[in-house]
Amino acid sequence: MAVEMEEKPVIKLAAICGSLRKASYNRGLLRAAMKMCRDSVIEGIEMEDIDISELPMMNVDLESNGTFPLVVEEFRHKIRGCDAVFFASPEYNYSLTPLLKNAIDWASRPPNAWADKPAAIVSVEGSGKSGQYHLRQIGVFLDIHFINKPELFLNAFEPPKKFDDNGDLIDEETRKRLQDVLLALRAFTLRLMKGKSY
Ligand SMILES: Cc1cc2nc3c(=O)[nH]c(=O)nc-3n(C[C@H](O)[C@H](O)[C@H](O)COP(=O)(O)O)c2cc1C
Repeated sequence: MAVEMEEKPVIKLAAICGSLRKASYNRGLLRAAMKMCRDSVIEGIEMEDIDISELPMMNVDLESNGTFPLVVEEFRHKIRGCDAVFFASPEYNYSLTPLLKNAIDWASRPPNAWADKPAAIVSVEGSGKSGQYHLRQIGVFLDIHFINKPELFLNAFEPPKKFDDNGDLIDEETRKRLQDVLLALRAFTLRLMKGKSY
């Protein structure tokens, strides 16, 4: 009996960083993840870095009959067009960074661009965990389907150093953990994509 080999689709993964800091550790994680996908350490993922730094502060006065400022339209278009989302963000005062919350809010305006997107979140911060859990909670309302595990929280201040002065990841154990998150997100995304074809 012939065995049909199933061809898996390439996943379009939108990468979003919640920090603007030049040597951001979270951006360092994101860069490391993008490199793994680019170098085919992880196959089947095309990752695009989505810039959220130019979005205006959320203000519904900027909307007009369901249209948004161009930069917001472009951002929403990218979120709608991706298969899954990868967030790397620190915690600020037990919650999301304002940068990330602003982007979430813009893409949430009707029609909600986040709806039904598989997602993962990784974080470098102090010892807090609430920021990541707040994002997961927002995901409940917006129908973002976060993978539960593996979780990835890193303490920015605890030795040994995991990032160099440019914010590049230098720790191999962390690289492996990051890889496991991407693999779990890829598997979950493929499951959801397959489910949709029935
Ligand atoms: C305004 C502000 C608030 C912060 N609040 C928290 C916090 O509540 N919990 C925590 O663990 N770290 C907190 N931090 C520390 C950051 O999460 C940490 O410096 C992180 O590395 C910053 O991410 P980045 O390197 O990607 O910029 C805070 C930092 C700032 C600037």
